[in-house]
This record gives sequence, C-alpha cells and structure tokens, in this order.
Amino acid sequence: MWQDTAVSRKLGLRYPIVQGPFGGGLSSVDLLATVAEAGGLGSFGVHHLEPAQIRELDATIRTRTSKPYALNLWVSNHDEGGLRLSAAQFAEAIERFRPYYEELGVEPPSMPARYGQDFEEQVEAVLELRPPAFSFVFGIPSARILAECRRRGIVTIGAITTIDEAVAMEAAGVDLIVASGMESGGHRVSFLRSAEDSLTGSFALIPTVADRVKTPVIAAGGIADGRGIAAALTLGAQGVQIGTAFLASKQSAASAAHRRMLFDERNRYTALTRVFSGRLARGIRNRFLEEMTASGIAPLPYPVQNWFTGSFRKAAGTQDRSELMSLWAGQAAPLLHHHDAGELFASLVRDTDALLAPRAG
Ligand SMILES: Cc1cc2nc3c(=O)[nH]c(=O)nc-3n(C[C@H](O)[C@H](O)[C@H](O)COP(=O)(O)O)c2cc1C
Repeated sequence: MWQDTAVSRKLGLRYPIVQGPFGGGLSSVDLLATVAEAGGLGSFGVHHLEPAQIRELDATIRTRTSKPYALNLWVSNHDEGGLRLSAAQFAEAIERFRPYYEELGVEPPSMPARYGQDFEEQVEAVLELRPPAFSFVFGIPSARILAECRRRGIVTIGAITTIDEAVAMEAAGVDLIVASGMESGGHRVSFLRSAEDSLTGSFALIPTVADRVKTPVIAAGGIADGRGIAAALTLGAQGVQIGTAFLASKQSAASAAHRRMLFDERNRYTALTRVFSGRLARGIRNRFLEEMTASGIAPLPYPVQNWFTGSFRKAAGTQDRSELMSLWAGQAAPLLHHHDAGELFASLVRDTDALLAPRAG
C-alpha cells in the first residue's frame, strides 16, 4: 500500500501527503483543516507572526481539527545587514520604492522598530503549544530546541536543498526531511551554501538524498498530481509536500489576483528572484520583477527588502494589481486544475491509487 510509509506512520496520517506551509499570510486554517480532515498533514507558515499571534492561531486550529498538523518557522530570520538601517539608508530605500507607493496610492512607511520576527521568541511559543509537528526551513534549530521537541512529542520536519544539508539535518536528529527541489514555488530554503549554488531539481535530489540518509524523505517541488506523487515515491521518497497546487485552492489565503494568475497561461514562466524579499524565491514573472531586475539595483538584505515591498504588495493584492504583487508559484503550475482543496486531495489519492495500488488478479 503506497499510503503506508515511514512518513505516514511517524505523523499518524492516512496518506503521506503534506500540504506545504505558506509564510507571509498565505496559509489559512480552512486549508489546513481541509487537508488534515482528508487524511494528509495540514501546515501553517507562522514565520511572520508574533508569539501571541501564534498562540491565538493554534487555539483556532484546534477548534477546527483534532487531526495532525504542523506549524512552520524560518530558523534564520535575517541576512547580513538585514536587522537595521541608518536614517540615510532608510530614506534612500523609500526613494527607491516611491514610484510604486505613489502608483498604488499608499503612504510610504515610516521606520519600524524591527523589520521581521525573532525566531528564538517564536519557537518558545511553538514548544509551549506542542503542535503535533514542527516544520522549519533556512537552517537547523539548536540541539536544545530539538531535544525539547522530542521531550514534548513534537515531530520535527526540516527542509534541505542539497545532499550536504540532508546529512547535517540527519546528524542533528531531525525526524523527517523535506527535500525541496528547485521547481518549488516560494523561497529557496538553502542554509549551507547560497541558494544560487544549491539548485537541484527534484528528479535528481530525491534519489540522491534518499540514498544518502536513513531519515525518511518528503519530496517537495514540482508535484501537483498523482503522477508526481507516484514518481516521488518511486524515486525513494516516503512522502510528498505539495505547495502551489494547494495555494491555488479557494481555501488558501492567496488573493483573488494571485489565484487567478496561478491558473493563467503566464504561469508557464516563473523566475527565481531576490527582488521581492531579498532572498531567492520562485514566482510568476510580472512587471515589478522585470523592472527591478532590469534596474540592476541590488535588492536590500532579507527581511528589509521584504518589508519595503510588502507595504505596497499588500495594497496591490487588495487592488487586484497582479503586476505589482509577488506571484509565488512553482514550475508545475501549468498542471493545476482544482479550485477546491478537498477535490484536489481526493484526486491526488485517486490518481496515485490508479498508478500504484496493486491490481486485483
Ligand atoms: C507562497 C508560498 C509560500 C511558502 N512559504 C513557505 C514557508 O513559509 N515555509 C516553508 O517551509 N515552505 C514554504 N513554501 C514551500 C511550500 O511549503 C512547498 O514546499 C513548495 O511549495 C513545494 O513545491 P511546489 O510549489 O512545486 O508544490 C512556500 C511556498 C509557496 C508557494
């Protein structure tokens, strides 16, 4: 039975299918609960939330499902120079983005107390809440945090983009490894070498990592239907994590403009870019991406660039202006058909069954 794997057993799931977490406000309790109730692992990306907001969210999740789910954080929350700007640097950054603020009619933001959240504070909230699973990207939490997870019965799921990162993740004693192929939508979560130096596609990453580590591997990147699941399991994965296809469902918190673009023919052309957040991420090409790339101006470090563009990207979403939003999407977006997460999940199971279930006679 393809459903019965080390991943489904460890997490107590009916199917070894994980709904990938989305940071930046694109996850939703509705999506998490739909997938959890269908027998997969629902996830919620909380790296943009303060500890108090994480506590509130977890309480809401528990009113919607008693099935396993994961909360997800970014271990490394800033790059060099990404913690504070001088007044002069801040003013210069405002000038850089002023045309976009003006075009969308939003007030340029004033200097914040901080540009992003603090992982150490966030993870204490997660430990206290004891979600069934804690998944993370951009690094490996300290030995103390991982030991606390074990003590509290929280399954740990760490993401990697290279064989070396998988070996390091296994050495740290993480329970499950997400192997993120470069086809994936959203950020490249590399932590040993630069993201640009760690671009391996799922077809090579899954078997090479599965051969090298004993920790069960969850394949992520480019999977959007039963063929992708069957292929990933055949290549040595014990589970799959699907992002873009769930992001496109009506249950996600993506804006209507973003969801529309995920089904648009322009989804054939995604790019890896740092112009939105300061870290490398995959999204559908649009005007902002092309203009910033053509300008030749180096993006600010993460999370500063993310904070400056975030203030107008949000307005662009509200105003239905997809040319000025971040249109995160993976390379498999042209495979998307389903607008409902429950129907998507049922079709994933049905199609994988048709390919992998033993045939009578
Ligand atoms: C909009 C978006 C936001 C994401 N945010 C996170 C995140 O905060 N944490 C994380 O572990 N993965 C994040 N991911 C990655 C997904 O969980 C998943 O691994 C990936 O989308 C799988 O590749 P696919 O898009 O080809 O299905 C994000 C992906 C997208 C598309």
